Amino acid sequence: MQFQIAPSILSADFANLGKDIEMLNASADIIHLDIMDGTFVPNISFGFPVVEAVSKIASIPMDAHFMVVHPERWVKRCAEIGVKMMSFHQEAAKEDTAAILADIRANGMKAGLVINPDIPVENLFPYIGQADFFLIMSVFAGFGGQKFIPDSLKRIKTLKAELKRRGNDAPIEVDGGVSDDNVQLLKDAGASIFVAGSSVFKADDPAEAIARLRGEKRTY
Ligand code: DX5
Ligand code: ZN
Repeated sequence: MQFQIAPSILSADFANLGKDIEMLNASADIIHLDIMDGTFVPNISFGFPVVEAVSKIASIPMDAHFMVVHPERWVKRCAEIGVKMMSFHQEAAKEDTAAILADIRANGMKAGLVINPDIPVENLFPYIGQADFFLIMSVFAGFGGQKFIPDSLKRIKTLKAELKRRGNDAPIEVDGGVSDDNVQLLKDAGASIFVAGSSVFKADDPAEAIARLRGEKRTY
């Protein structure tokens, strides 16, 4: 199993973002962009001017996680900027979910479906085959630096088992409180893409923290 680390720039130094992106180009697999609208979640992060600026220096794929109402509005714009993975919340899209997944794919991006910790994981099952990846939130979307919710492990296992049963190899991404303390358990549960904000950017050596999460150097 190949594991990919997707640092969230929500915890980066926005006054020196270029430097952090260069570091990620050299050490990470994916750049995770957390887009919040202050309505779907009680916080506002950043929008397209920042995504565009990142796109100019990013040499690894950009993964845009939309925590917004009406994610369908932003599909074209993401594709134009060069975003490779676009995900949105099933609880924001509701009955439009299948159409938005299809639109993301039609625009040449990988389509990801996300759920918050209070949404039954079974809500994702109807979209197996329609999504290219699934994102299980292991904290409630809205803020970086929250504590990992251990029940997420069970939810990942349940989804992984259903994917296997249906012969689907869509990767499971996990987002929220991911650190050295839980990454191995998450790998064992079936996750393969790991979003990490504070555990990377608050580390003394972020590049080394990324390598450690990937499993190149174990400290435990
Ligand atoms: C939360 C975001 C996460 C967050 C992760 O709404 O989706 O991507 O930035 O940050 P940490 O790793 O600090 O929990
Ligand atoms: Zn995220």
